[in-house]
Amino acid sequence: MSLKELTKEQHTNAERQKFVPILMSGEIEVNVYFHYLVNQHACYSALETCQFNLPDDRLKRASAIGKDTEELKLMGPIPNTCYNLEPSTKKYVKYVKNKIKDEDQFLAHVYVRYLGDLRGGQMIAKKVPGKGHYYQFEEPKELAESIYSKLHDSMVDEARLVFDFATDLFKELYERHFSNPKRVRRKST
Ligand code: HEM
Repeated sequence: MSLKELTKEQHTNAERQKFVPILMSGEIEVNVYFHYLVNQHACYSALETCQFNLPDDRLKRASAIGKDTEELKLMGPIPNTCYNLEPSTKKYVKYVKNKIKDEDQFLAHVYVRYLGDLRGGQMIAKKVPGKGHYYQFEEPKELAESIYSKLHDSMVDEARLVFDFATDLFKELYERHFSNPKRVRRKST
């Protein structure tokens, strides 16, 4: 088995969230995508400033995501609420700071997030507003290998947990933006 097979159920569950067809529609509103990026930025900053190092520095995403949010701000005013961190993000940031105790545990996070960006992220890149610096990697094959080469199946429990955090963010953003009739809308084009 590989981590990919062992986490298949969690990946499928993430992909089935109602936020996903919105993210992939090619018409996600700037505000909503901005809010997603703000939350992703906090998660990646936590990983990139913790005591463990990424297998390759070129994997780092926080500053690329920051560039994307700057670009989106130039498209028009972003409501203050879209700067808020969702509960799953706050929990995740605390988790990374306080609960990651060793390199293998850290690498399970690297697998789920950075390999996810190197793989599925490439599909998302084509559909979202802005240039998508977040999804642009130098030497993607080499970078993916730098992660794959460090993985083993015993990381599965931690990897599943990271998927759950990411899935919770999709749920929260959907609730925040699409189940409240008073929400603020702005088209991406
Ligand atoms: C937004 C919806 C998503 C789509 C459309 C998507 C799509 C994909 C695709 C097409 C692949 C490549 C599959 C392959 O190599 O055969 C992939 C791989 C991957 N995705 Fe996703 N994904 C999504 C969400 C997520 C989320 C939320 C995470 C975790 C935060 C994630 C983590 C991963 C990982 C870790 C891989 C690499 C698997 C491996 O090669 O071991 N994906 N995804």
